[in-house]
Parts: sequence; C-alpha cells; structure tokens
Amino acid sequence: MSTWLIEGVAPYGGDPVDLLVRDGVIAEVGRVGRPRGAAAVDGRGLAALPGLVDLHTHLREPGREDAETVETGSRAAALGGYTAVHAMANTDPVADTAGVVEQVWRLGREAGLVDVRPVGAVTVGLAGERLAELGAMADSAARVRVFSDDGMPVADPQLMRRALEYVKAFDGVVAQHAEEPRLTEGAQANEGVVAARLGLTGWPAAAEEAMIARDVLLAGHVGSRLHVCHVSTAGSVEILRWAKARGTRVTAEVTPHHLLLTDELAATYDPVYKVNPPLRTAEDVAALRAGLADGTIDAVATDHAPHALEDKETEWGAARPGMLGLETALSVAVLAMVETGLLDWRGLAERMAAAPARIGGLAEHGRRLAEGEPASLVLMDPAARWTVDPVASASRSRNTPYAGRELPARVVATFLRGEPTVLDGKAVR
Ligand code: DOR
Ligand code: ZN
Repeated sequence: MSTWLIEGVAPYGGDPVDLLVRDGVIAEVGRVGRPRGAAAVDGRGLAALPGLVDLHTHLREPGREDAETVETGSRAAALGGYTAVHAMANTDPVADTAGVVEQVWRLGREAGLVDVRPVGAVTVGLAGERLAELGAMADSAARVRVFSDDGMPVADPQLMRRALEYVKAFDGVVAQHAEEPRLTEGAQANEGVVAARLGLTGWPAAAEEAMIARDVLLAGHVGSRLHVCHVSTAGSVEILRWAKARGTRVTAEVTPHHLLLTDELAATYDPVYKVNPPLRTAEDVAALRAGLADGTIDAVATDHAPHALEDKETEWGAARPGMLGLETALSVAVLAMVETGLLDWRGLAERMAAAPARIGGLAEHGRRLAEGEPASLVLMDPAARWTVDPVASASRSRNTPYAGRELPARVVATFLRGEPTVLDGKAVR
C-alpha cells in the first residue's frame, strides 16, 4: 500500500490542512512533514469531501455491454468523485439470483475503481409476480442489502408488503420506483401545460405520490425500511415529510437532473431529456431543493442511465428514458444546492456520501475526514468551471443532458481506501 501526502487541502471547504494517507486510512491531519517515499498531491485551492456514494446506478452489465459495462461505469463514477455505487438490478439477465449479483460484484472488484454493490431485484425477472431469492442474495458474496425492481414499480401491494417484511431479517431495504402503472400508461412527459401543448400523453404527479403514500403506510404498518427512488414532485416531498414526522422508517433520494431541469425541455423534442420519472415543473424543482435542504429527502442519487445511440437518437416516443449522471452529479448538486446557499459543503457531503452509505449499509463509506478513518475521499476544485463534452465521457454512452453546458466544481482526484483512482482529473486506469 502506498503513502500519500495531500498538502494544503480544505476538508469540507474549511481551513487548509495536510492529510497523510497511509495503509488505506487517514493517518494524520494537520501540518504534516512529507515522509520519505510518500507521493504528494498539491491540494491548495481544493476542497476534500468523503468519497461519494451512489444509491442508484445502471451499469447495464450483464446484457447491454454496448451501453455500459461495470468497468466503464466504474470509471465514470470514480471521475465523478464516487467511491461506491449501487448497481441496479434491471440487467439482462435480471439480478434476481445470488449468481447474477455475485457476477456483478466480482466484475466490480476486478475493475477496482469503486466498490460496486449490486442491488437485488425484488421480484423474479422484475415481473412483479413472485418474490426473488432475497435471502440468498443477502447471504451471497455480494451481501446485497438494497432490493429494487427499479425501472418498474412493485405494483402489487401484497408483494410489496411481503418484501418489506422479508428484508427486515437482514436489515435490508426495499427501494421503490414509485409509479402507479395504470396512471402512466403511454405517458411521455410530465402531465401539465407543457405536455398538453406538445400533445404528449401526460405522466401525472399523482402516479408517483399515490405509490409513495401507499408504501409509507405499508412500511409503517410492518415496521420496515422503505427507500423511495428518484422523488420528483412537490407532493411527494409533502408525503415524505408527513411520514417521517410520524416516525416511519422511510428514506428518499432525488436525482441531480430533477434538482435542475424542468419539463419545458420536452419542447425541444430531444429525447436526451426523456427520463422516468419525467422532468417536472419549476415549482417541483423548488420543493425538491427545499426537501433536500431540510432533510426530508436524505440523499442525492444519480439514476445514471446510459443508453446506446439507437435507443436514444430516435423520435421522442420511441426513445428509452434515462440520462447519464455519474460524471456531472457533484457539479449539478453544487449548482443547485451550494451556489444557491441551500447547503454548505458538510450538508452536501451528508447527502452525497454519508446518508447514501447508511441507507445502503456500507460501513466503510461516507465516513468523516478524520484520523483513523478510511481514506476514501474526493478532492475537488470548487472554483473551477468546465464545459460538458459528451465525447470526453468515460461512459460507453453519450446521453448527457448537459452537453455544451458550463458547470461549476471539478473533481481533481479520488482515493479509494488510500489508493488513487483519479489523479489530475484523469482515471489512473
Ligand atoms: O429514466 C429511467 N431510466 N428511469 C428508470 O427508472 C430506469 C432507467 C433505465 O434503466 O434506463
Ligand atoms: Zn427508476
């Protein structure tokens, strides 16, 4: 294991210190002389945060390696400042057995750029009919703790109840893609004035809110942990606030794109803006930001959803929903939450590292930047501005909604357990 001295860096944007990284941990914090044989990183002007943790990443392997692989997605994650990601189960084959989740976990270990924690499917084949082998996935080498049919909701309330009860045995959590499917048949964009003007079938906010309301009642009834994926409406924030106030064990995430973009973008008919749940209104964006700031929404999660060109560069109706997110998440969160004064750097670290690590059960991640803690961290330049170039992305796919856009804050280096995965803004492998 190597030794690194990170000189003059500002933890959480505070006063500059040196961080000595040795044997995978933060060995010293303060004014530290450079030990013989140690490599140095010039941290002046940079802020340090705990390595980011993503609760919601689509890596597409197995099955759609033309869109992303565990390795290319891991590289994109490291470049975005992440040290751990949760790989969603809607692969082909679906990650609904111990065999598939172990395969994804092993591929993550081989890539070695971030910790890849597979998410297990709740139902066999995401079909919503029978529970998958949740216990076997939890007991497997991948030690699955988060279960989700994401891409699809668990629509059957009885199955949802059974899943919530089942995962209690190993302190697991069911992450629901909250969408009442009967209300979203044929839906193409947020139901509202924009969709009406464009003649697109609407995806009503109530389809999300009804499912969240049902699930917080179920989770409260059986005393289990529920996590709500990609919350997108003001009403959802209100329901979560109510559920938390009455003590329900519910957590929630919001994506960077729902914190920044609105359904007005559908008017371009550019499918790069097609995503599920859809982009909503400016009022929803404001409520999501407020909910993230006050802790009603616990975490930022990317919903990084790479798609091959032929699935995205087609007409709006035929295009797959989803956007890239890993390499731009930190910058978009800084733009939406820090530059607006809604969160400081500690608040951002809580929502992009500590909270998602707790929700996912990752004890080694999202820890404080302090002596003796694991040296999984990100160094970023808060003053830098950069222009998003889809061609430069480490992802196999190109479907970023921010192409050509200038964003604040740039990741300079990422360390995973004391070893750099990114240096000078470039992946080490
Ligand atoms: O936009 C989305 N894309 N939403 C989802 O729920 C699934 C995801 C995907 O897998 O592409
Ligand atoms: Zn989803």
